[in-house]
Amino acid sequence: MSTPIKALVFDAYGTLFDVHSVARLCDELWPGKGAALSQLWRTKQLEYTWQRSLMQRYEDFSHVTRAGLRFACKALGLTLGRAAEARLMDAYLHLATYPEVAQALKALASRKLAILSNGAPAMLEPVVANAGLAHTLDAVLSVDALRVYKPDPRVYALAVEKLGVPTGAIGFVSSNCWDALGAKAFGFRVFWCNRAGAPVDELGVLPDHEIRSLAELPALVGAS
Ligand code: LAC
Repeated sequence: MSTPIKALVFDAYGTLFDVHSVARLCDELWPGKGAALSQLWRTKQLEYTWQRSLMQRYEDFSHVTRAGLRFACKALGLTLGRAAEARLMDAYLHLATYPEVAQALKALASRKLAILSNGAPAMLEPVVANAGLAHTLDAVLSVDALRVYKPDPRVYALAVEKLGVPTGAIGFVSSNCWDALGAKAFGFRVFWCNRAGAPVDELGVLPDHEIRSLAELPALVGAS
């Protein structure tokens, strides 16, 4: 029998918050380009986190998010003025949650619940508050304290330290496959929320569970 799960640690962007909810504003600013801009923005934002970690040149997530936006606009031939940049960066503080999130967190509330995210505290606090999730979470943990991004194992270790729960009793939930596998390599029990039905990354580790929506989590965790 496996160790019961005492805490659930969630990735933020893409798992609880829909980063592509900015696509509507992108489309309002540049009609017909919203989806492409939102996709490339997210791709570059993540690439910059990995590149900066390897280069040992940490800048916080607000910086890499802005840099990713600027690059994506240039690559797509879109002129990004100051006002549009400010509106898009602000949209990141008001991201929509996926529809099942509030109910799933409520159903899991007997366990410790936390976020562990690349986001800087100044981004995470407002997005969590604006989504009305602050009262459901025991902790909102940011990589910013460590100045290195996921999937560096020191990031996952931060959750063990801050929550005071052993590694094997932590369930880690992410929609980002690379993050889920980073957490698995560290030693967490991993739930990969494969919203898009993507193939698993070829990194030599596999998640413990694959789900399509967080609505599946309460039954799975209750039974594990
Ligand atoms: C985060 C990114 C990986 O929230 O989505 O950490």
